[in-house]
Amino acid sequence: MKRIGVLTSGGDAPGMNAALRAVVRMGIHRGHRIFAFYNGFRGVVENDSAEMYNRSVGDILTRGGTIIGTTRYPDFKNPDVVKRAARNMELLEMDGLIIIGGDGSFRGAIELQKLGTNVLGLPGTIDNDINGTDNTIGFDTAVDTVVGAIRKLRDTASSHGRTIIIEVMGRKSGWIALKSGLAGGAEAILVPEIPFDLDELSHVIESGMARGKKHSIVVLAEGVMSANELSDKLKEKMGVSANTVVLGYVQRGGGPTANDIILASRLGARAVDEIASGNSGVMVGEIKGDLVASPLEEVIVETSIIDPTLFHLASYLVH
Ligand code: F6P
Repeated sequence: MKRIGVLTSGGDAPGMNAALRAVVRMGIHRGHRIFAFYNGFRGVVENDSAEMYNRSVGDILTRGGTIIGTTRYPDFKNPDVVKRAARNMELLEMDGLIIIGGDGSFRGAIELQKLGTNVLGLPGTIDNDINGTDNTIGFDTAVDTVVGAIRKLRDTASSHGRTIIIEVMGRKSGWIALKSGLAGGAEAILVPEIPFDLDELSHVIESGMARGKKHSIVVLAEGVMSANELSDKLKEKMGVSANTVVLGYVQRGGGPTANDIILASRLGARAVDEIASGNSGVMVGEIKGDLVASPLEEVIVETSIIDPTLFHLASYLVH
């Protein structure tokens, strides 16, 4: 029987609750005791935790957000704060801590591990920017949300013959822009991984309109520039203004898709077995359908970048 902690950290992502439920229920099924730490690493530092039971995670499977709270917690870069967290883990006699979050959270986990805490990461972020997994928990839902917005915005863009720029999340990674742009049939997709060319973009918009297109939808990852900045550039170049929509936090909310729930459930259950068997300092991800544990040090080295073949596919199919 082990004592295992679990927390959610960084930007919330749909499916975090499903992962928590899987950790708790699989943990209890295996005979372990599971403790949730509230509001990310802050809960470990401030000793804000509670034991979780099967009923504690009832009715959360399809709920967005995270019922145990999350924080971005810059204080955790301070070694004294990490020391306090490690000390609390010792006092609580925790055998390990499961961290559901993104790369920033994994950096914190690595520091905690250096002070003797067993840690295990699960990729929970809408950005899909983590190596060591094909999909992060929450990404599929965020893409679905953006595609829903594109459909609605296209209706009004077509009716008015407008260009609409939709700014989506992704500071370093264009995954959300790429997949939602492809699934939503956007005329142009701008991602941080591929240099942006204003001439090309204005050509796509102008030639589309000349061929009789009634709208142009541009999906822009926030890491490239802001929608307003792009709109100004287009205005200067083509003399036509584009409308802008910043989807913002809408992308992080809502109940998870079935794919996200299944991914989160599989990862959460495996996390328990990995940490209970003493596997520390790894993240469990899903690669080509298999669950794979990769060292945290490796998954944080670089952002997972988009698949260029999908990017080109999207551009060939829009005519
Ligand atoms: O990490 C996920 C993410 O959604 C990014 O895409 C976005 O830029 C960021 O969080 C913004 O989050 P916050 O304002 O909560 O720090």
